[in-house]
Amino acid sequence: MQSLQEKASEWSGVNRSDAFAIDEANLYEKLGLQTFINLSTNFYNRVYDDEEDWFKKFFANSKKEDAIQNQYEFFVQRMGGPPLFSQRRGHPALIARHRPFPVTHQAAERWLDHMKRALDSTMEIDESSRFKMMNFFRHTAFFLVAGNELKNPKQGFACKHAAAKPAAA
Ligand code: HEM
Repeated sequence: MQSLQEKASEWSGVNRSDAFAIDEANLYEKLGLQTFINLSTNFYNRVYDDEEDWFKKFFANSKKEDAIQNQYEFFVQRMGGPPLFSQRRGHPALIARHRPFPVTHQAAERWLDHMKRALDSTMEIDESSRFKMMNFFRHTAFFLVAGNELKNPKQGFACKHAAAKPAAA
């Protein structure tokens, strides 16, 4: 049986070494805290303005400011900075934290589309960091899809055959 990581690689098209190239250099030291705040602010401004209701509804029970803070503190911690997320929220346990949400292939592509646009509009992030971060996000998004399918195997569908799959990020 395929592991969640193997499924994530297959569905995202990002292999493990590319996904974890974020660990080759300390992106937090390179980019600084404010850049991560700006990225998550850009991302959630887009998400909360999404014209696709089915996607926006995922976030209906979260305040935008809290969602921004949760996200950038995780990114900072994961990309070489202080453990801000764990100090405030505990273990990241991303699959468990996404359990309330139907993280389908389509939802992952929508999330990634917002994130790609957010990265492109955060000018402080250089090309090489953007590339590494996008690979990490893409792999992690499909890792969450794989986790979601464990919860309800019938809900998921193979990405390559998805009827309503939006353009890849
Ligand atoms: C695949 C599509 C995804 C969907 C639909 C999704 C959805 C959500 C939702 C609805 C929340 C709650 C917002 C909040 O209150 O903080 C959330 C939180 C979060 N997500 Fe995602 N997410 C996705 C992908 C990702 C990815 C790829 C990452 C990491 C690279 C990530 C990291 C987080 C973190 C750290 C939190 C905060 C958890 C907490 O503090 O409890 N998510 N996500």
